[in-house]
Amino acid sequence: MSDSPHLATLAVHAGNAVDAGSGAIRRPLVMANSYALPDDPSELSWSGTGTPLYTRNGGANQGWLEEKLAALEGGAAAVALASGMAAQHAVFFAALRSGDHVVSSDNTYVGTYRLLSELLPGKYGITATLVDTSDLDAVAAAIRPETRVVHVETPANPTTRITDVAAVAELAHAAGALVSVDSTFATPVLQRPLGLGADVVVHSLTKYINGHGDAMGGAVVGGGAAGTALVDAIRREAMVNVGGAISPFNAWLIMRGSVTLPMRMRAHCAGAQAVAEFLEADPRVAYVAYPGLASHPQHDLAARTLDGGFGGMLAFAVRGDSDTQNRFVAALRVITSAVSLGHDESLVVHVSGDDERAPYYPEEFRRYGHLRFSVGLEDPRDLVADLDQALTAAVGPG
Ligand SMILES: Cc1ncc(COP(=O)(O)O)c(C=O)c1O
Repeated sequence: MSDSPHLATLAVHAGNAVDAGSGAIRRPLVMANSYALPDDPSELSWSGTGTPLYTRNGGANQGWLEEKLAALEGGAAAVALASGMAAQHAVFFAALRSGDHVVSSDNTYVGTYRLLSELLPGKYGITATLVDTSDLDAVAAAIRPETRVVHVETPANPTTRITDVAAVAELAHAAGALVSVDSTFATPVLQRPLGLGADVVVHSLTKYINGHGDAMGGAVVGGGAAGTALVDAIRREAMVNVGGAISPFNAWLIMRGSVTLPMRMRAHCAGAQAVAEFLEADPRVAYVAYPGLASHPQHDLAARTLDGGFGGMLAFAVRGDSDTQNRFVAALRVITSAVSLGHDESLVVHVSGDDERAPYYPEEFRRYGHLRFSVGLEDPRDLVADLDQALTAAVGPG
């Protein structure tokens, strides 16, 4: 490889090499729980991660995946875990102790919201202030002397709100806090938060990075001294001792899926842009939230900070009540009603306007509810035709 390969080259080659045992040009799947001990194991730490020992302390496929993720994010270290939530929890668990405080985006994946609003305060005595992180004054006002982590999800699930990571990182670092960014929606193809000043990046690998809807995983990638130290702590504490290890098979599947990430992201972005423009122009649609539309509140910021597209995620609602949204979803033929996102197939989920996070959503999300739409890799013309016929079935011709 050249000195500084481009992302598509890293997506193919990083973490892969000729297998010394077989000569195969792809690294194999290693399903062993245990690795051969050195002749004198008496000095080994059973919680250590340096010597191959036991799959919960780190395995071959996990390590190769970590190498690849660190390369894709431009990070110094990465740890792969069992799911995106295992990774997100690991960041808070390893970085914080009782009495510490977190400032976080108020628009996040529901699991992160529950961690910050219920579980961390209730179980660990760690408090959080949830703010609109696209509002830098709100972030500055929320930071306290005991704030140790500022957590940002951008683009945010489900509203697609965009946060200026570089500006938030400046505020957080001035206050001595670490910056963590959930970049699941963007992937390293569209956004590399470590280069914008974040200390760690969190991914649900279950989504775009695997991309095929058949394996769960999560990762934390760290940059700089503080980010690298936090990844090390996560490996020791959340992986070895708490047990959040990813299975070797899932690591292998995710490694394979991630080879095509750059070209898949380009197709997701093109499809989402086409579909968002169709929906916005249709009078039967109440609203569309997509960062690639000029009507999106942070469209200019997204154009500045996302590289090469606006992502594959959008949210919208049909003009009508909750039953109308359900009728619309039931009429879809190509697009599947199911949770998750970033898969090859398009997925839609109807969430009603009285969702527990609704107080943090824009007014139109509260009024109509929302249909979270993960635009897949189908031909966008077929997706538009499917949306059009389902709108006709739910509310009549356009
Ligand atoms: C932005 C974001 N972060 C984290 C997660 C959690 O990931 P996982 O389902 O792999 O635990 C999700 C899941 O939808 C998500 O959308």
